Amino acid sequence: MTYQDIFVVRPAGPLFGSVKINGAKNSVLKLMAATLLAEGTHHLYNVPDITDVKIVAQMLTECGSKVFFVGDGEVIIETPKTSDITPRASLELVAKIRASVVVMGPLLARCKTVEVAQPGGDDFGSRPIDYHIEGLSSLGSTFSERDGYLIGRTEGLTGGRVVLEFPSHTATDNILMAAVLADGTTVIENAAREPEVIDLAEMLTSMGAKINGVGTSRIEVQGVPRLGVANHRVIPDRVEAASFLAAVAVSGGEVFLEEAREDHMEMLLRKMRSMGIHIESTPLGIWVKSEAHLRAVDVSTLPYPGVATDYQPLVVTMLSVAEGTSVVSENLFSGRFRYIEELRKMGADIVTDGHHVVIRGASKLTGAEVRASDIRAGVALIVAALVADGETKISGVRHIDRGYERIEQRLRLLGANIDRRAVGRKESD
Ligand code: EPU
Repeated sequence: MTYQDIFVVRPAGPLFGSVKINGAKNSVLKLMAATLLAEGTHHLYNVPDITDVKIVAQMLTECGSKVFFVGDGEVIIETPKTSDITPRASLELVAKIRASVVVMGPLLARCKTVEVAQPGGDDFGSRPIDYHIEGLSSLGSTFSERDGYLIGRTEGLTGGRVVLEFPSHTATDNILMAAVLADGTTVIENAAREPEVIDLAEMLTSMGAKINGVGTSRIEVQGVPRLGVANHRVIPDRVEAASFLAAVAVSGGEVFLEEAREDHMEMLLRKMRSMGIHIESTPLGIWVKSEAHLRAVDVSTLPYPGVATDYQPLVVTMLSVAEGTSVVSENLFSGRFRYIEELRKMGADIVTDGHHVVIRGASKLTGAEVRASDIRAGVALIVAALVADGETKISGVRHIDRGYERIEQRLRLLGANIDRRAVGRKESD
């Protein structure tokens, strides 16, 4: 018998108070990988206490770095000299966190070789890494496969022109981290423009990299022979901010999201305002106020600055209790509707058709036993449970813990009724 955590949620009415939005998961994982680029002692601040950060810390440790969690969101990483680095990401770690492919760029740049276990699909469909490989190949590396590992080698990276077929977030990060130490100039066309890519570029620039055009679709990197150490504060997590916004939107109430930034989530906030949610930005964070009477809107997910795919389960959940019919289209990940079956168990009236969902809102949700299949699906189920009659039990909490620090405690402080419980299960479950 092993134990796994579940969340038990009951409706508790409107939410009030203030919550600090933590550092962005999808930034910090890449920032940690970027410390492999330079020998010395790096300091990262505002690092969230989430499982994915611990897995990347373990990966850096296997590469030869020393990682110290000194408390209060500060992490110190000591990166060894090149000859003491083991340029490898094992299957055990890549299987746990697909973002670990992001060590490919820094390790190739630093060690001229890298071995990374081939990532499989995940809970929302197949997620290839062909753009990463093509991009790194354009910078003078070659790849082969052996025993489930992808092996990259280079005589020394050289600048090149990379045209991404799609503005892939992590492929942009990976190529950027390789290009900063390549010989000559690299141009990344159709680059991702996410705030987390800008955060990475800002940290690299502070380490001595020469990068132009970040935040636009054309990034130009002038390679330098070496970089210095990083001292960097992680930007706030816009998806975590969106999760608390959604919780208040459906429950009603008034909450201040400390450090949340409107400029990182403009399109989503535009959609949320059309739903009837009051949102006000201040230099210190975002106020959200809701009477819990939401209106239908149509939403399509797109690369930044469009509405991010990571918000999609939250958006569908909000619309399932809104007045009217909405259509939501998912344009990034084919399998990202799997959680909808769980929302239906709770009484949501949702029909899927290819990559579209039609939501007939104003459903009265009821508590049920549901399973979180990935991080964002999991948090969307919490949001639904906050307004579902009776008790909801959410399993698969380990997925939620990958990206949210003690979410239940933070929601409880705002007035939600949510508890974490350990339940036994058979090894074979
Ligand atoms: N794609 C390819 N080939 C590639 C890379 C991507 O075909 O080599 C496709 C993907 O299959 C997808 C599209 O390109 O259809 C975009 O994928 P992208 O590469 O941008 O996604 P990612 O970088 O792997 C990051 C976040 C995801 C987030 C997406 C989209 C990290 C660690 N992950 O993934 O975050 O959904 O960008 O914004 O940064 C999450 O936090 O829950 C999460 C899944």
